[in-house]
Amino acid sequence: MAENQHSRSTGTCPVGHLAESFDPFTDPYLSDPYSFWEKARDEEPVFYSPSLGYWVVSRYEDVRKVFLDSDTFSASISITPLKELCPAAVDELVKAEMVMGPSLVNEDPPTHPARRAHIRDALVSPRRVKAMGPRIRELANEYIDRFVTRGRADLVAEFAWEIPALVAFSLMGVPDEDIERAKSFANRLALFTWGHPSDEEQTQLAAGMGQYWGYAREHVHRRLAEPTDDYISELIKVWRTPGNEELFDENYLVTTMMNFLFAGHETTTNATANGLRALLEHPDQWDALCADPGLAGGAVEEILRYSSSVIAWRREVLSDTTIGGVDIPAGSKVLAVTGAANHDPSVFPEAEAFDIRRGNANKHFAFGFGRHLCLGAPLARLEMTIFLEELTRRLPHMRLVEDQVFEYSPNTSFRGPDHLWVEWDPAANPVEADRSS
Ligand code: HEM
Repeated sequence: MAENQHSRSTGTCPVGHLAESFDPFTDPYLSDPYSFWEKARDEEPVFYSPSLGYWVVSRYEDVRKVFLDSDTFSASISITPLKELCPAAVDELVKAEMVMGPSLVNEDPPTHPARRAHIRDALVSPRRVKAMGPRIRELANEYIDRFVTRGRADLVAEFAWEIPALVAFSLMGVPDEDIERAKSFANRLALFTWGHPSDEEQTQLAAGMGQYWGYAREHVHRRLAEPTDDYISELIKVWRTPGNEELFDENYLVTTMMNFLFAGHETTTNATANGLRALLEHPDQWDALCADPGLAGGAVEEILRYSSSVIAWRREVLSDTTIGGVDIPAGSKVLAVTGAANHDPSVFPEAEAFDIRRGNANKHFAFGFGRHLCLGAPLARLEMTIFLEELTRRLPHMRLVEDQVFEYSPNTSFRGPDHLWVEWDPAANPVEADRSS
């Protein structure tokens, strides 16, 4: 299939030297994808990757076109596992009676626009997002309390991994007594969907997904019997409104809950960790933020531009088209490298510099663009802003532990370090209450 698509392309052979060397699953790419894209944008901005079976697009204008022209570029494959499931993984999903249907992010018209408006209102109405602020701040401080007198912490395991998961659970209405159970499902799933896991890894991940599917179904049943005011309950209320009977079905709600944990959790965890790493690697920027917390909003945008947690997204080509002068036939698959676009110097001058005062940082594609633009963006921005405000207030003197090696999950799209070790002198904690143990 991939070979076929490639041979049907026209014009000059798009498989150049960069295309052949493109391996998003190993180092040096994993630890530094941006050097690769700097060359690719100049030398082969649109190329076919034979190993991936995807056309890869890296310039800002081309990525923008892919997102905007949703008649040509379908979202249908955006969360399909990149590696076909092995029989043992399929068995796990069958055992769990898991039937993943579409869920917004991989839907096209006519269902997508009809559902999106309702899902937006249920999930991220300005009222709901605003109401989350105090809880997010409380959680941030509770977690900082746990390590502030210690002088050393892994800000992924002890902070950024935990809080977005709890925020997502709270939005979905997961009861307190189920939190620990739900947390065990929140495995790192990027490898499953955007990586090339071994059969054994894939089977293990599929088993975890099966368990979470069972829990999501249980939760949806609970809310069908007794709706409250959480996100799932709000969707149920919309569905039960006369005239909306065809809008959802039960499977859609379970799939939505399943995907939501992923959409709302690891994305925000990774963006926070990437941001803290970038800030602490640029002490002038970190110090400026500590001195003026009013810069937090701008810092969040620059973090999302400079080191986003989602660096590539997928589309399927519905009709013959051209991107950046390269003919792409119908049926092809496209990897729009948003991370590369976010470093395109034609839009972001001195794109490799990290500057929290950058005027146009918010033109990034971290949240995608167009019809499917991330619905959780206001919540993610709020979470990240509060994290920065509280960490700069209580730990302005923290520094990265020297000589640590940052490791990244081998996948095309989700990027964030597995650990982020920081240290500080607890005796110098600026908040007096943080100096006693
Ligand atoms: C920094 C954190 C986040 C990043 C980088 C991110 C990124 C993305 C991206 C790239 C897309 C696909 C856009 C497209 O196809 O054009 C997306 C869609 C989506 N995201 Fe996020 N996301 C984040 C946080 C969240 C949160 C916290 C939630 C939930 C509260 C969420 C919910 C969604 C939903 C529901 C969609 C599907 C929208 C649609 O297809 O219409 N995201 N996100």
